[in-house]
Amino acid sequence: MNRPTFSDAHLAARAWFLERSVAAGFEARVDAAGNHSAVLPSRFAEAPTLLLGSHLDTVPNGGRFDGALGVVAALEVLRTTQDGHVDLPYTLEAIDFTDEEGTLVGLLGSRALAGALTPDVLRAPRGGHDALLHGLARAGLTATRLADARRDPRTIAGYLELHIEQGPVLENEHVDIGIVSTIVGSRSFNLTFKGTAGHAGTTPMDARRDAGLAAATFVVGVHETVLRDFPNCVATVGRVTFEPGAFNVIAGEAQVALEFRSADPSRLDALEDALVFRAREAETLGHTVEVEPVGRWEPVPLDTTVRTAIAHVAEALGLSTAELASGAGHDAQALAQITPSGMIFVPSVDGVSHQPGEQTAWDDCLNGANILLGTTLELAEVFAG
Ligand code: GLV
Ligand code: MN
Ligand code: MN
Repeated sequence: MNRPTFSDAHLAARAWFLERSVAAGFEARVDAAGNHSAVLPSRFAEAPTLLLGSHLDTVPNGGRFDGALGVVAALEVLRTTQDGHVDLPYTLEAIDFTDEEGTLVGLLGSRALAGALTPDVLRAPRGGHDALLHGLARAGLTATRLADARRDPRTIAGYLELHIEQGPVLENEHVDIGIVSTIVGSRSFNLTFKGTAGHAGTTPMDARRDAGLAAATFVVGVHETVLRDFPNCVATVGRVTFEPGAFNVIAGEAQVALEFRSADPSRLDALEDALVFRAREAETLGHTVEVEPVGRWEPVPLDTTVRTAIAHVAEALGLSTAELASGAGHDAQALAQITPSGMIFVPSVDGVSHQPGEQTAWDDCLNGANILLGTTLELAEVFAG
């Protein structure tokens, strides 16, 4: 699947979602951040909305289930509720959030809805400013209006997201359903190593300030540092670009995309210090090192009432559960800032995700969808008191 935000394939998937929503008799909505929704109104006036969602965008060359499972299952929960003529004390809304994966910004739609899309976030988007403006224009959106997608938290009853685990825990432990306790925090940085460009044939090996070498040394250093000193943390250099980038020119500059994650905020601080220290080691070899923060997410615990409801529903359906932290980011971490939020995980075959081999058994998808439906019904009782 290759559906980066606002690509043709992504826009087509979103159009498909709205078509299916309208065909099922729901009201279709698109807000100022491009979030796409199907709405099943409560028959009770002034009822708040229970949001059920995830995202239809993917990473480049990603998998079939990451995000899409949660959106399609949410729509099916609305259809089933409608078919069963169930009166819920809330309006149900199946929502496809814009740009969860961060082709442009990351959690763009869910943050806008939660009122957390500050001008700061939009000033240095991780896909670059031009890409953001160009992408928004393709979808008929404008940067200045994105924040209008904000909803009053009093109008929202809660948020539920079904998602694949994207890791190996459930499969290894033969557990049917994961209940997410916490979504890890993460930080990302653009690092620039500046050396001196030069002739690849005539500059002696001991007379170079090769920015590519500095970047490569850093990549190795990141891996070593985390393995040695930071158990339960992860750090990734996902992109390195050399300038000017030719066979016969020593790199004068290298740009490095770094991100790291942990469920523990104090470990994030310590890891940031350690990795910036590793980057600055290049200064002792005469390089200039620039460190620019790009994104910052605190670890987010999910709502205990919702977690308990998910566990009850699974028990009633005879499915085994385990609580686990999510190492992946999710729209739920934005929603959890404003409303009780919960996440249901289903197993990923071999723990693989963010690549085409991503797989989840249909039986597990079905289990997850049934838990999403059951929790939607169960919360009606819990919220009623
Ligand atoms: C999104 O899937 C992320 O965790 O980066
Ligand atoms: Mn996802
Ligand atoms: Mn993803």
